[in-house]
Amino acid sequence: MKPSNFKYQLLFICSIGLFSATFAQNQPTSLKEAFKNDFLVGTALGAEHILEKDAKANQLIKKEFNAITPENHMKSMNIHPEWNKYDFYLGDKFVEYGQKNNMYVVGHTLVWHSQLPRFVGKIKSADSLKLFMTDHINTVAGRYAGKINSWDVVNEAIEDDGTFRKSIFYNLLGEDFIKMAFDLAAKADPKAELYYNDYNNEQPAKRKATIEMIKKLKASGTKIDGVGIQGHWSINSLNTKNIEDAIIEYAALGLKVAFTELDLTVLPNPWDLKGADVNQNFENSPKMNPYPKELPDSVQTTLAQKYEELFKVFLKHQDKIDRITFWGVADNHSWLNGWPVRGRTNYPLLFDRNFEPKKAYNSVMNLKKNNPNL
Ligand code: XIL
Repeated sequence: MKPSNFKYQLLFICSIGLFSATFAQNQPTSLKEAFKNDFLVGTALGAEHILEKDAKANQLIKKEFNAITPENHMKSMNIHPEWNKYDFYLGDKFVEYGQKNNMYVVGHTLVWHSQLPRFVGKIKSADSLKLFMTDHINTVAGRYAGKINSWDVVNEAIEDDGTFRKSIFYNLLGEDFIKMAFDLAAKADPKAELYYNDYNNEQPAKRKATIEMIKKLKASGTKIDGVGIQGHWSINSLNTKNIEDAIIEYAALGLKVAFTELDLTVLPNPWDLKGADVNQNFENSPKMNPYPKELPDSVQTTLAQKYEELFKVFLKHQDKIDRITFWGVADNHSWLNGWPVRGRTNYPLLFDRNFEPKKAYNSVMNLKKNNPNL
């Protein structure tokens, strides 16, 4: 080879190297960075995360996410175990964690029929229930006023068929309990964004009823800022048409839309169960738990495709979406290992049991890497 040729070749190789290095440098390296112009990307934290027990989990949470939701410890059963007793230990630590790490902090949840303290189950009169709600919301939302960015004020008040859920709140107070909860929350923490949160509320009948309920609330002067669509879905029945319609219709009410508890189960659901009614539970069996050791490649790929499909819809409507929160940090911690069948091994999130990114993580990240303008 002539020396001059060699010089050009070297120059060419160096330029390619420099180009790839610059390109790589401009590539996002975390979910929160990739979607920074689109929406917040959050995760649900358990006590072990808040107390920073596991270095790997802790590192992952801080690197990837910019929003946090308490998975259980702000539910009334835990934060308000008895009439005159509150337990703020984990709630305080959770809020501190969010502030320390510059994260958007979500409160979950003020009024919900599940995970209620035992004493509430014994309430028989409307007045006593009102007293509980008032004291609960004033105390909890009041304590964290100015520190919580948004509250899931009411969780799951509507059934799949569009009727009101016959919860203790509805049975004793009628649908007014929803207005009451939002008004109390607005007073206790005027700065927080107030959300109505539910599962299956992307589906037509429930969506229609939710929209009617929200219109009424707004017409009565109640402050409501957003709708949370939980997003507990399955790789076998993901319906992006419903999801897209829901985003458009909720946003048309002038509300923010958030996906608040996203996960995609990969396990069988032969009982035709949809949604996330936490009170449902079924027998475990080898048929129900087909991947106890590892997820086959083919299912890993389907999971990645479904997440990609979903995030394409999210990106298309990023102007209407405030936040996408995953219900858990990594597969080991997902509630779907225990619900609706106890003791299964599920793989619904973007990070595996070693806190490593899965194919699904790459498929979601690639949407931004290959199309920075998407
Ligand atoms: C779940 C938690 O993840 C579990 O740890 C707990 O045992 C039951 O509740 N809808 C909600 C969440 O709003 O609070 C639920 O979280 C999942 C369904």
